[in-house]
Amino acid sequence: MNIRFEKAAALKLKPDVSKVKFGSVYSDYMFMMDWTVDGGWQDPRIVPFEDLSLSPAALVFHYALEVFEGLKAYRTPEGKIQMFRVDENGKRMANSAERMSLPRLPEEMFVEAVEALVSVERDWVPDQPGTSLYVRPVLMAVNPDLALHGPAHCLFFIICSPVGSYYAGGLQCNAIRVEEQDVRAVRGGTGFAKCGGNYACAQRAANQAVADGYGDVLWLDGVERRFVEEVGGMNIMFKKGNTVMTPQIATGSVLPGITRKSIIELLKEQGYTVEEKKIDIDEVAKDLEDGKIEEIWGCGTAAVISPVGKLCIHGKDYVINNFETGPLARKLYDTLTGIQWGTVEDTHGWIFPIQ
Ligand code: PLP
Ligand code: COI
Repeated sequence: MNIRFEKAAALKLKPDVSKVKFGSVYSDYMFMMDWTVDGGWQDPRIVPFEDLSLSPAALVFHYALEVFEGLKAYRTPEGKIQMFRVDENGKRMANSAERMSLPRLPEEMFVEAVEALVSVERDWVPDQPGTSLYVRPVLMAVNPDLALHGPAHCLFFIICSPVGSYYAGGLQCNAIRVEEQDVRAVRGGTGFAKCGGNYACAQRAANQAVADGYGDVLWLDGVERRFVEEVGGMNIMFKKGNTVMTPQIATGSVLPGITRKSIIELLKEQGYTVEEKKIDIDEVAKDLEDGKIEEIWGCGTAAVISPVGKLCIHGKDYVINNFETGPLARKLYDTLTGIQWGTVEDTHGWIFPIQ
């Protein structure tokens, strides 16, 4: 790509990331590119971060024709900048786009755009432990069209936000509650796609859970309301002896997390049996009752690993591992973040150095 660069008149002051709420501060520049039905992808550019000017009739506002991604840039102890499995985010965005009838951005263009923007914004990658530059690519249909004829003009843009921990407490136990009423995704729906609508329909239950003293919700399948799916912004794993269980993604109603995929590889290398399968919430309750489930954690880019210290199932609270981070969650967190921040050797080819 021939990426045009437009210099900002002035640069912003960088904040103390340890005091910043996740996702609330944005860097100086953003990547932008248009797509039109006649001209394809065009005019890749890195421009000062600014408001968008769009028609109130733009498709995205009415029919949610939008998909996004989330990834991070890390600063190593030597001051180098690196990213994690950017190609996987590129593949997932293309698959999400296909589900929403948006144009598939070629994976190589996605990677090039992310790398180019992070390279320009390298000074925004913080250096305090546990901090990173969160990178948010978005693809949306912006042509005015109340009749929903489909995307004729799309915008692909990427913004960056320096972040600390997703949850205010960092690697601390979280309390989550099984959602009994609302449904996030169904088979044949959009659960596997990272589209805004999945988060919009999840908001009410999440808000209610927070109002009731929980950090997040655990979604069940939308048909039988019995099988575990995922947490609001994370996949979920259960440790039982030498086995780690996680919901299968073949149903199409769970987001195929890149952290999930990486952790499965790490667990197998460490000799654990990983079962990707249907997980009945009543069996989880029974296993918790019998003390057979020793650890539960959520995993995702923003949260990394989030140990679940309390799980509410059908109105009953189960405390896991005395509401303390378990040894396996801790070990996985250390290994994964070690690879991401460059203190543990990357033997998998997961790291993308940024020049
Ligand atoms: N599930 C949902 C609903 C998410 O929003 C995320 C976060 O991106 C994940 C799972 C974890 O995916 P990843 O590990 O690729 O960030
Ligand atoms: C991520 O983990 O990158 C996400 O997109 C989750 C979001 C709720 C912050």
